[in-house]
Amino acid sequence: MNIHSTQSHLFASLTAYLQDLQESGVDGIPVELMYAAEPVATPQPVQAKEQEPAEPVNEQQPTTKKVETLEQIRKDLGPCQRCKLGATRKNLVFGVGNPHARLVFVGEGPGADEDAQGEPFVGDAGKMLNRIIAAMELKREDVYICNVVKCRPPQNRPPESDEVETCVPFLLRQIASVKPEVIVALGTSAAQALLQTKVPISKLRSKFHDFHGIPLMPTYHPSYLLRTGGNSDSFWGVWDDMTQVLQLLKLPVPVKARKK
Ligand code: URA
Repeated sequence: MNIHSTQSHLFASLTAYLQDLQESGVDGIPVELMYAAEPVATPQPVQAKEQEPAEPVNEQQPTTKKVETLEQIRKDLGPCQRCKLGATRKNLVFGVGNPHARLVFVGEGPGADEDAQGEPFVGDAGKMLNRIIAAMELKREDVYICNVVKCRPPQNRPPESDEVETCVPFLLRQIASVKPEVIVALGTSAAQALLQTKVPISKLRSKFHDFHGIPLMPTYHPSYLLRTGGNSDSFWGVWDDMTQVLQLLKLPVPVKARKK
């Protein structure tokens, strides 16, 4: 199955899932994915997003929306064996961070360290991502971090289209639950899976794309920066991308000078 037929299947299954939710009384998820039309007027801490009440104040009011919690989504995944990655993983890697973060990072899939610890981005790529987050003057616990697939692909190969198709609906539900103001897609797999495209990351990055009303910034994967080095063009390209993210969030942009 190629990536485009995978994506049509993915959206067909997501549509069916949303219809099921609607029939069972949940009417808020697609709307909740919409980015707030009004920009934030004043700088806000990245973790301090206003929350809607999880439960309706008055069950009779038709405008009340129920949003799944991350715990509910994790419970639904259970000891997942929906795709072939389930057979070889040690730990399912769901996601980590602030469940109401204004900023979500999406990577490709767990590596060996993440598989061993059950947490995304804890190995060498994770250290590089932590550097990026710290350079933004944010903390790892302020943001939410997850992956396109939740189980380690053998030999760290990119996830295959059937694996992405099976797992991405859960990622979309996580995003709908967190309701971030901005998403950063780390690397080719994340950017292509979320934006349903085959365009290379080098052409996608450096500008915002629309993801169901949420601005999405594709950027290079931290593993790529490990290969190119901490003062490379790609490293500074990522910093330019993160500068745009901070500006959109109306957060201070730290001044960083490139070494000559
Ligand atoms: N690379 C990813 O894309 N995700 C992780 O969690 C770790 C490495």
